[in-house]
Amino acid sequence: MIEITGLTKRFGKLMALDSLSLSIGPGEIFGFIGPNGAGKSTTMKILACLLKQDSGEAIVCGKNVRTDADAIRRVVGYMPDFLGVYDDLTVDEYLQFFAAAFEVPRARRRAVIDQVLELTDLTEKKHAMVDSLSRGMQQRLGVARVLIHEPQVLLLDEPASGLDPRARIEMRSLLIELRKMGKSLMVSSHILSELAEMCTSIGIIERGKLLYAGSIEDAYAKVRSAALDAQPGEGTSVGERIEVVLQADSAEATRLADKLGGDPRIAGVKAGPSRLTVDLRADAGADGHHFLIEAILHNGGRIHSFAPVEVKLEDAFLKLTTGALQ
Ligand SMILES: Nc1ncnc2c1ncn2[C@@H]1O[C@H](COP(=O)(O)OP(=O)(O)O)[C@@H](O)[C@H]1O
Ligand SMILES: [Mg+2]
Repeated sequence: MIEITGLTKRFGKLMALDSLSLSIGPGEIFGFIGPNGAGKSTTMKILACLLKQDSGEAIVCGKNVRTDADAIRRVVGYMPDFLGVYDDLTVDEYLQFFAAAFEVPRARRRAVIDQVLELTDLTEKKHAMVDSLSRGMQQRLGVARVLIHEPQVLLLDEPASGLDPRARIEMRSLLIELRKMGKSLMVSSHILSELAEMCTSIGIIERGKLLYAGSIEDAYAKVRSAALDAQPGEGTSVGERIEVVLQADSAEATRLADKLGGDPRIAGVKAGPSRLTVDLRADAGADGHHFLIEAILHNGGRIHSFAPVEVKLEDAFLKLTTGALQ
């Protein structure tokens, strides 16, 4: 759906995009994540044919932004990070305006608008003034507006920014609904956790460069193995870290650690006072917990508590964006 290769854009001396390459398949929700100023909006504006790159290529639905801007505008819905001000317009008038701008045939407009109002849960607000809507509703109206010409690809720039938790959940379910309708979505955010749950893949961008592209799960695995404090499973691919508290003294913990350390499913193990920190290998499989508990019991250990260590989303994000994985 979207294929970007070596995309570069300068603003004067500033390198906003530095040979960016990424690929988004059909039916994906691609989370485009990076701190403010990373180059997210610039990328999306180029894809929406609102800004020209200096070099590199961007292909949307098989069409090149350099040569097929008109065709791309018909298949892409772009929602900017600021909606702009529309005083004295009702929700319905606002959508009528965009339906006309996108040359939706007059006879179809009513039906299309009612449909997008329903989808974005704004039917009841049809006659409300745009200015009077909550931030969450305004953002949903922004999505409604880009759906008017029935695009296949949606480029949504920070749709969840500034929303309270409830409005954020509503926005997420709307985006998931759009995916179910067969649309491909590229959604930006400077906050990873805003998007994590609903994305099929993510790309992390910083200073115009792509630091990571792939699944969220792989991003976590990468952070765990490469960026979490290196020991005990240093250098190996760590699937999960488990903190085991034992009913034992540290000599007993050390004895257990030695026993467990040789197992191929364990990437590393460290003993502390009445505790073990165990890194299971990424390929330890779904019954890794079961295996570990059994191994501890089998070696005479008494488990007080057993808990996977959570890798916090924002920590992972920070590790990734400081180039720790480069
Ligand atoms: N029209 C512009 N003129 C000059 N600099 C710009 C312009 N647009 C963006 N920039 C700069 O390019 C960089 C990337 O901006 P942007 O793509 O908006 O980042 P993001 O959306 O990730 O916050 C920033 O340093 C920003 O200040
Ligand atoms: Mg931006």
